[in-house]
Amino acid sequence: MRETLLGNDLIEIEKQIWLLLKQSVKIAKSPFHQAYVATINNNFPEQRTVVLRKVNIEEKTLRFHTDIRSEKIENLRNNNSLSWLFYDSELKLQLRIYTKAEIHYDDDLANIAWNNSRLASKMCYTTHAKSGSIIAEPEVIDINQKDIEPELLDFARKNFCIVETKAAAMDFVFLNAKGNKRGYFNYSTEDFQWRQI
Ligand SMILES: Cc1cc2nc3c(=O)[nH]c(=O)nc-3n(C[C@H](O)[C@H](O)[C@H](O)COP(=O)(O)O)c2cc1C
Repeated sequence: MRETLLGNDLIEIEKQIWLLLKQSVKIAKSPFHQAYVATINNNFPEQRTVVLRKVNIEEKTLRFHTDIRSEKIENLRNNNSLSWLFYDSELKLQLRIYTKAEIHYDDDLANIAWNNSRLASKMCYTTHAKSGSIIAEPEVIDINQKDIEPELLDFARKNFCIVETKAAAMDFVFLNAKGNKRGYFNYSTEDFQWRQI
């Protein structure tokens, strides 16, 4: 990857970036396994960390899993623009990916993702209080339930959804002693450009 970034072939750089993103889905320690996604919340940008769950290179899609009751879902229902931020501190590579999001709830995509999820991940959807609810004291935080009963998993399933996002453009910045680089890939026009950092 580093060699490619040091080179001047924008098409190859773009290709390698997507490969790196795809590989990161399965590698929990990869810097791109977690990312930050921003939505619009009452005209204000709101960011949070999520786990990158799936990448489709041909379709230029990136996916994360979430709770249908969370505020980000409400944000996306009002405005489906979502931007991803990735940073690999070893490579010194920043990616910003500008997308439009689709929420999948209780459909084929969501069901497949749910069935392929590990039990520990499924248990994240078992809280009774919805994310962001005001609570009286930290001791009463409604933590993920531990008893794995079919009814509980059924309840968790009802809270689960996936957010599938399709890239309209990507901006990358690569910092390097031999010369910093920035490029922009526009997927609507298929225009790839070098840009001033
Ligand atoms: C390391 C890490 C990974 C996380 N991964 C996810 C995730 O994949 N999906 C998710 O909905 N929330 C995830 N969260 C929690 C979110 O960052 C956020 O706090 C929560 O989803 C509520 O966000 P909202 O109020 O903007 O909807 C993660 C948090 C951390 C610290």
